[in-house]
Amino acid sequence: MRQPESGVTVWLTGLSGAGKTTICQFVENKLRMQGYRVEVLDGDAVRQNLCKGLGFSKEDREENIRRIGFVAHLLARNNVIVLVSAISPYREIREEVRQNIPHFIEVYVNASLEVCEQRDVKGLYKKARAGKIKHFTGLDDPYEIPLFAEVECKTNQESVAESATKVLEKLGELGYLYSC
Ligand code: ADX
Repeated sequence: MRQPESGVTVWLTGLSGAGKTTICQFVENKLRMQGYRVEVLDGDAVRQNLCKGLGFSKEDREENIRRIGFVAHLLARNNVIVLVSAISPYREIREEVRQNIPHFIEVYVNASLEVCEQRDVKGLYKKARAGKIKHFTGLDDPYEIPLFAEVECKTNQESVAESATKVLEKLGELGYLYSC
C-alpha cells in the first residue's frame, strides 16, 4: 500500500470523558487496516513516560502539550499519521502547536460537562467533586473551546463510528489519504 506523501497530526481536544481516546482508537484501526503508518499519542499514556512528573497547573499542561506537539511533528514529518488525544484545554497553546506543525487538523470532541460527568468512565469526576482531585478540567479548571476546529464531533449525538468517519473524511478531503 502506498503511503501519503505527507504525514499529518490530528489533534483531538475535549473534556475528560468526551470520547477522544475512543474516537482515536477507531480511526487508528481503520487506518491501520488500510495499511497506513499511524501513531497515537494519548495524554494518559504520555503522562506515564514522556511527560512523567508533570501535573495539571497551566504551566504543566502547556509543557505537556508542547512535548506532545514536538513528538507529533517528528513523526508526521516522517509521513506518519499522528493521532493526539489530550484535553489540551488552553486555546493559545493549541494555536502555538498548530503554528509549529505544518500539517495540523484540530478535532473538537464535544460533549457537555454534564454528559462527561454522567459517563465518568474513570470515576475522576466523582473524586474531583469530592475534593480529592483539584483543578479538574471543566469543574475548577478551565476548558477553552476551539473556535476554528476543522472537525467537530458531538459525541452525545453521534455514534463512535459517525464521529470517526468525520475525522477520516476530513483526512481524505485534505489529501492525506489515498483512495484505492
Ligand atoms: S492536558 O490538560 O495536559 O491536555 P491530558 O490529556 O494530558 O491533560 O491528561 C488528562 C487526563 O489526566 C485525564 O483524562 C484524566 O485521566 C487525568 N487527570 C488527572 N487529573 C486531572 C485534572 N486535574 N484535570 C484533568 N484531567 C486529569
